[in-house]
Amino acid sequence: MNRKTYHFDYDLYSDISELPGSDARLLESARVVTADAYAPYSHFHVGAAAMLTNGELVKGTNQENAAYPVGICAERVLLSAAASFFPDVPIHTIAISYHNLKGKSTIPVSPCGICRQSLLEYETRMQQPIRIILAGLEGEVLVVHTAADLLPLGFTATDMA
Ligand code: THU
Repeated sequence: MNRKTYHFDYDLYSDISELPGSDARLLESARVVTADAYAPYSHFHVGAAAMLTNGELVKGTNQENAAYPVGICAERVLLSAAASFFPDVPIHTIAISYHNLKGKSTIPVSPCGICRQSLLEYETRMQQPIRIILAGLEGEVLVVHTAADLLPLGFTATDMA
């Protein structure tokens, strides 16, 4: 038996003011778009903004449903929009934020497992790593260098080869 260790490097900033300008602008877009979320059940309004490699900006918000499992996370709304409006254009960076109407919005958001799988599929499909900026409306900002880092031992097409 060989015990293996998984680790990954990410960047932690104390707040948005420390970020490079382009990342700060993208995070600000994600924060602003939380206002467009449809989250009458959880009151947890998530916004995502993507900068594509062609310079286009694509946004998404969570869209809930009275039949709870039908709801869709902001990240997957964004990925569907990007794939629909700009097929074949890789995503350079995605910023994700949230407005929690029932509490604080200070801890960096943590994408759910389905979204991590979807992000991994998108970067595999486009053959380009997606940088991911995670934050709340204020406070610390976490920058991950590739979606693959968020899903250790993730399942991709090569696993079926
Ligand atoms: N949600 C997202 O849209 N993205 C995340 O990264 C975390 C969770 C949504 C799903 C649901 O509408 C609400 O937030 C509470 O889970």
